[in-house]
Amino acid sequence: MSTESLESSDSPPAGSASAPSRRTFIATTAVGGAVVASGLVMGPSVFGAEPAEAAEASPSSRVSLTVNGKRHTVTVDNRTSLLELLREHLDLTGSKKGCNAGACGACTVLVDGRRVNSCLTLAVRLEGAEVTTIEGLAKGDRLHPVQQAFVDQDAFQCGYCTPGQIMSGVGCIQEGHTHSEDEIREWMSGNICRCGCYVKIVRAVEQAAGRK
Ligand code: FES
Ligand code: FES
Repeated sequence: MSTESLESSDSPPAGSASAPSRRTFIATTAVGGAVVASGLVMGPSVFGAEPAEAAEASPSSRVSLTVNGKRHTVTVDNRTSLLELLREHLDLTGSKKGCNAGACGACTVLVDGRRVNSCLTLAVRLEGAEVTTIEGLAKGDRLHPVQQAFVDQDAFQCGYCTPGQIMSGVGCIQEGHTHSEDEIREWMSGNICRCGCYVKIVRAVEQAAGRK
């Protein structure tokens, strides 16, 4: 079959001045594609509509809060959790994202001295708050008593839950819920350890609370 038989009769004849050569066609198409892909061609002139993200920009807010004694002012999407603020904006990755749904306690931090699940706490609601994370407990090389107790009692295996357990232990002691093993268990029950270090975790909280 000849090549001519594949071409429409409306097409300029191959080789005429107005007929793009195969080489020119591929080159111009590739350049056009690259320009569109790189975002240099913008707006409705190309696709007839604005990109969805631009049309529905998420509302954001500025929030000023103190984390581990240092003041921060950040602008965040209103849906940002305190955990995301700490990990993704302030680079404080000690607080861990386990369930991200308030069920495991791996993200526990202190806000104005009280324990919270930072995955369930909206950052924009913390204007003026004082936040303490695991990174803020030690004083230089000197571990916080709860951190030291976890080391002494060998109260962790994989360590993933440990920052949240330690922060919860600090809160538990500050709240005065350390009168018995059972009371510590009850008030630490929001913190899950998949490795099953509970016996040693309770011993560590008892040690830090001065019961051992
Ligand atoms: Fe927050 Fe599990 S990550 S409770
Ligand atoms: Fe591994 Fe607690 S030490 S989950």
